[in-house]
Amino acid sequence: MRSLIDIKELSVSELDSLINTALDIIENPKKYSQKCQGKKIATLFFEPSTRTRLSFEAAMYELGGNVLGFSEAQSSSASKGESVADTAKIISLYADIIAMRHPKEGAPLVASMNASIPVINAGDGGHNHPTQTLADLLTIKRKKGRFDNLTVGLCGDLKFGRTVHSLISALSRYEGIKFVLISPEELKIPGYVKTDVIEKNGIEYVETTDLAGAMPELDILYMTRVQKERFFNEEDYLRLKDSYILNPQKLENAKKDLCIMHPLPRVNEISVSVDNDPRACYFEQALNGKYMRMALILMLLGIE
Ligand code: NCD
Repeated sequence: MRSLIDIKELSVSELDSLINTALDIIENPKKYSQKCQGKKIATLFFEPSTRTRLSFEAAMYELGGNVLGFSEAQSSSASKGESVADTAKIISLYADIIAMRHPKEGAPLVASMNASIPVINAGDGGHNHPTQTLADLLTIKRKKGRFDNLTVGLCGDLKFGRTVHSLISALSRYEGIKFVLISPEELKIPGYVKTDVIEKNGIEYVETTDLAGAMPELDILYMTRVQKERFFNEEDYLRLKDSYILNPQKLENAKKDLCIMHPLPRVNEISVSVDNDPRACYFEQALNGKYMRMALILMLLGIE
């Protein structure tokens, strides 16, 4: 029995196979519509979510399965003091697979150690978000047709942005990747991501505060929201929240085939006037998340 806590647990060939399944689901949805008949996913969300939770639920429904769960800690027994370990043991009695989001780093890992069914990390604090990375990878595959030889700009809150940490971890396994890490000084990528992931894999990277200067060389621009909920004081958040706002003018020097991504929700980071630019990929990215979650559920449940 296998869980997905960190994107590194999937090999490059397993990622390829998930992508191929997702592409086949897109082409032949009927073939998959009864694959999870009689199966249930429990979505245990101790933190807010729109895309991740609802796309997991839509994914299970489109596979012919069912859904149970909760969407806030307040409505679960966590509010009475129940541990994540106990919750995981109990949900294992009711469901076949768990998708869990939690504000504490490592909580889904603890759940996986105590559950008797697969656990999927749907975001743990400022740490990781492997299924967002699956959505990101399918988007890159469909737009660029490859994962190697890409210059990838990651912009915004690189410190607390868990989607950034997981995406860097996944892309660091391909050849010819260069990261341009664009953030305010206070929101730079954590040291452990730099040393244990980027440098360890011999990946080229630069750190800068200057989005405009980086723009011309980028193949992918991954914008992120400043993670308000992880700040210790509101003053810092207010000072940093609008550090980068992407608008049509800033895209003037960008490549014609730039792929603009964002895990969403956006606050101010991308002006709505960019939405109709053919390079804007973020809504498609959210749809791709559903297909990849379908592929992942099939894989973890051992369904062909
Ligand atoms: C992201 C997250 O939860 O980390 N959202 C998502 O799942 N698409 C990004 C964010 O909240 O900024």
